[in-house]
Amino acid sequence: MSAREIGIIMNGVSGRMGYRQHLVRSILAIRDEGGIELGDGSRVTVRPLLVGRSEAKLAELAERHGIEDFTTDLDAALADPRWEIYADFLVTKARASALRKAIAAAKTIYTEKPTAESVEEALELARLAAAARVKTGVVHDKLYLPGLQKLKRLIDSGFFGRILSVRGEFGYWVFEGDWQPAQRPSWNYRAEDGGGIIVDMFPHWNYVLENLFGAVRTVYAQAAVHIQDRWDERGEHYTATAEDAAYGVFELEGGVVAQINSSWTVRVDRDELVEFQVDGTHGSAVVGLFGAKIQHRNATPKPVWNPDLEDAHDYDADWAGVPTNDVFVNGFRQQWEEFLTSYVLGTPYEFDLLAGARGVLLAEAGLRSSREGRKIALDPLALD
Ligand SMILES: NC(=O)c1ccc[n+]([C@@H]2O[C@H](COP(=O)([O-])OP(=O)(O)OC[C@H]3O[C@@H](n4cnc5c(N)ncnc54)[C@H](O)[C@@H]3O)[C@@H](O)[C@H]2O)c1
Repeated sequence: MSAREIGIIMNGVSGRMGYRQHLVRSILAIRDEGGIELGDGSRVTVRPLLVGRSEAKLAELAERHGIEDFTTDLDAALADPRWEIYADFLVTKARASALRKAIAAAKTIYTEKPTAESVEEALELARLAAAARVKTGVVHDKLYLPGLQKLKRLIDSGFFGRILSVRGEFGYWVFEGDWQPAQRPSWNYRAEDGGGIIVDMFPHWNYVLENLFGAVRTVYAQAAVHIQDRWDERGEHYTATAEDAAYGVFELEGGVVAQINSSWTVRVDRDELVEFQVDGTHGSAVVGLFGAKIQHRNATPKPVWNPDLEDAHDYDADWAGVPTNDVFVNGFRQQWEEFLTSYVLGTPYEFDLLAGARGVLLAEAGLRSSREGRKIALDPLALD
């Protein structure tokens, strides 16, 4: 059966996310496997148009991956009806203006988070898209992590009883850049360039909490610029102006309390770079990117606090592994496939620009909470 080909403008493919996750692991993987099958038996395939500022870089990428189309002229790409979807992986600061143009050109939108630098702008983009009847999708990749999919399965099975609390640890040591190059771009550490771990991570925590445990109602966050002296991609010193760690407490609809530490200044003593512990009346779980382990109430030990006695109990041994059972594909690709399917079949898509705006709202409230030293309540966002 012949497949319908969907042209996708991919802006920012030279970047970390744009190249690895969206181009190589998602769109090219889909293209190279002959497209995707939709639920109704039809097939679609994808044709990327690489967009960026450097013609030489784009030509090199196109050559390396057998891609025919690339351009530095975004306006011309948006004006060309062959390209149905506009996908954005630019630095955060450059995103809103590009999305605005793409919505004006009536393109379907698929974008990285955060969708804008302020909630006002994020909501405006959601409203513009709704008014233009443009379908939108925002990356919600963490929900597709195998560990979080196992967690979802545990929640849906009723394993936890009543969920009480969630404790998340995210982070690793990002080198300062002087004696070892930093493993993240330097703009991440400059507030004036759209950096900061709150803007980066709170949009993720918002959709993770909202989709698994309940919408965030209040936030208290403490941001910290722990390391001021950093060195950029050219080895030049700069002063960090954006927080490299954030310690957050979130009250959720339904009463669950979540606490998440996000840090680029922590050395890892965990099984994975992100881990969540969920405690419920009937059981607890600890999940990471891939792994998940559980402890049922019947397997819960009864520790007694005694500082005078060394505790010989092996607490690790009280946990049981959760089997994988499913085949998990790359999360970015899985979400792309779901979005493309929803686009072609015309079905509703919940991870849209309004969902993205809620993520920006949480980031903005987190920053405000830290600045003002108080808990901030979040007002629900609406399109009208
Ligand atoms: N979903 C996730 O897990 C995840 C992880 C990291 C980053 N991100 C998001 O992805 C986006 C890109 O992050 P990254 O780490 O890939 O950054 P990056 O610096 O590696 O790439 C940014 C891209 O934007 C382009 N660019 C930079 N300045 C520009 C400008 N002024 N105008 C037009 N293009 C410009 C660069 O050429 C590059 O292609 C950010 O918004 C970030 O928040 C998401």
